[in-house]
Amino acid sequence: MVQHPQPLVELVATGRYLPERVLTNLDLEKMMDTSDEWIRERTGIRERRIARADEKAADMAAEAARRAMERAGVSPGEIDILILSTATPDRLLPSTACDLQAILGARNAMAFDLAAACSGWLYGLTMAEGYLATGRGDIALVVATEKMSSMVDWEDRATSVLFGDGAGAGILRRSTGERGILSCYHRADGTLGNLLYRPAGGAAIPMSPEVLANKDHLLKMSGREVFKNAVRSMAEASDIALRKAGLTGDDVDILIPHQANIRIIDATAKYAGIPPEKVYVNVDRYGNMSSAAIPVALDEVLEKGLAGPGSVVHTVAFGAGFTWSAMTFRF
Ligand code: ACO
Repeated sequence: MVQHPQPLVELVATGRYLPERVLTNLDLEKMMDTSDEWIRERTGIRERRIARADEKAADMAAEAARRAMERAGVSPGEIDILILSTATPDRLLPSTACDLQAILGARNAMAFDLAAACSGWLYGLTMAEGYLATGRGDIALVVATEKMSSMVDWEDRATSVLFGDGAGAGILRRSTGERGILSCYHRADGTLGNLLYRPAGGAAIPMSPEVLANKDHLLKMSGREVFKNAVRSMAEASDIALRKAGLTGDDVDILIPHQANIRIIDATAKYAGIPPEKVYVNVDRYGNMSSAAIPVALDEVLEKGLAGPGSVVHTVAFGAGFTWSAMTFRF
């Protein structure tokens, strides 16, 4: 019997929200020079959800958060810390976390945004874990909400077909038993930032007619380089987090890799020695929802009963920055 580290904090409940509108590959064929076959073969994506124009990142976050709070039996006033991961904040100031705090009425919570792209939810869980473990607070809400449709260039077929909108949330509290976060591993490499980025619209190059005309406020990506780094870094993170937990791939009941591309998912699972039947995939239905991908997938896994009491769930992410992370849980 392997000796597992005693968890400090547990994920009590999760929630998700997906916008109603479904945009299929066939819909995209009518919008640009692409094909269902190309998209499915290269990425595994069949369709994605797209938020309404008036649906804000904070609104999606609120839907996911309410579901997690309801399942956890937690009221808004009990939340001590609210961390919101997003690459698509509704506005630059104040944070989307503060907008969410207002929508929920989480009047006793500190609230801030976390920008770590696709790894953001796992980064956020570790921040919350530290806050709760030191006794600074009792209940944390960590939400990831992404309106990716607002930052892609719908005339660029190489990026726009990859992404979708959605939100996922988790409620955490200090662990009293075997359930909880067993290990984590987080890294970043800012020297590779320009392989996946939005060139303008921030303080360095503020919004201007030129920026808008050149579409420099929208997402740019060097797909092949991102692909190579994602495979390498996710393998590293997965391996180290499992070792820190005193586990191997054989001990994992479900692997939830970041849902960007089926080929990256397959490579990550293969490297970790986890068979396909233990790998959760929903990239076909939602595309890449950046940091919302893992909490949405985890919520589906728990709802479908694919993980239950005692299950080991292993998660691994990679995104712009670059950032990469892995986290292992016992439920
Ligand atoms: N439809 C049809 N053809 C396309 C499309 C499209 N949507 N997009 C690109 N092509 C064409 C290209 O123009 C190119 O044509 P050419 O050979 O005539 O020049 C050809 O397809 C091959 O393009 P590549 O970019 O070389 O294709 P590749 O096999 O690398 O696949 C992809 C591209 C799917 C983007 C891949 O590089 C990838 O998945 N990268 C990872 C990107 C990613 O996941 N980013 C998300 C953020 S980070 C993360 O979440 C992990």
